[in-house]
Amino acid sequence: MPNLNPAGKREDSRVPRHIAIILDGNGRWAKKRGLPRTAGHAVGAETFRKIATYCKDIGVQYLTVYAFSTENWRRPQEEVSTIMKLLGNYLQEAIDTMEKEHIRLKIFGDTAALSPELRAMVERTEELSRHYEGIQANICLNYGGRDEILHAARRYARDYAEGKTDGELTEEGFASYLYSAGIPDPDLLIRPGGEVRISNFLLWQCAYAEFYFTDVLWPDFTPEELDKAIAVFSARDRRYGGVK
Ligand code: IPE
Ligand code: IPE
Ligand code: MG
Repeated sequence: MPNLNPAGKREDSRVPRHIAIILDGNGRWAKKRGLPRTAGHAVGAETFRKIATYCKDIGVQYLTVYAFSTENWRRPQEEVSTIMKLLGNYLQEAIDTMEKEHIRLKIFGDTAALSPELRAMVERTEELSRHYEGIQANICLNYGGRDEILHAARRYARDYAEGKTDGELTEEGFASYLYSAGIPDPDLLIRPGGEVRISNFLLWQCAYAEFYFTDVLWPDFTPEELDKAIAVFSARDRRYGGVK
């Protein structure tokens, strides 16, 4: 168990401020049990709730999760539509959890491609979040790192053409056009599920993130697994290109 102080916060100052997780392995989890892949997505949604609450308890300030990529539309139509249906429940549960736990919620991604019902939930979620302080969970839906950068570049070009910017484009200025505007970069990126790749996640923001890969499938991921990842992270020496 982590070392908690009376306020329930971990005493160790090395808890990452921002953790990003690629929620991978749902399909294989279900397959191993002879269940349809979609059953894995349902259990994976439960795991998200547990881990978000745990992150709040240990003092993580931002949690960004990859739930559906711009490439995931390539899956069989049946799986996509079940995932979309689950995302509706998932968002509703996230809204309920958020209200109970006071977790702020934000959606990263091109929401224009989502159904009007999902879009309405996204809006409601963001509206509710304004009233809370404390941990912020960002859920990436129809999200792609390249798509995000393109989307930002298009918005910047529009502002430039309309004379709304002075043309002095800095890294900081460009980052303010990304979905993650105003949020510090992830310190720790976790990928469960055994794959060792980034799959188009937070390409700009992960420039100096520490990566942690594990074979544990996302539906089996537990607070203890997160503690392991944080312990590995704590032992890393972050140099940002400098010397120490
Ligand atoms: C991650 O689990 C969830 C989504 C991409 C929607 P997968 O569905 O990719 O599970 P595996 O990788 O096939 O096990
Ligand atoms: C990455 O997982 C996307 C999400 C978890 C939402 P994938 O399962 O789609 O990634 P690949 O296809 O193995 O690279
Ligand atoms: Mg996968």
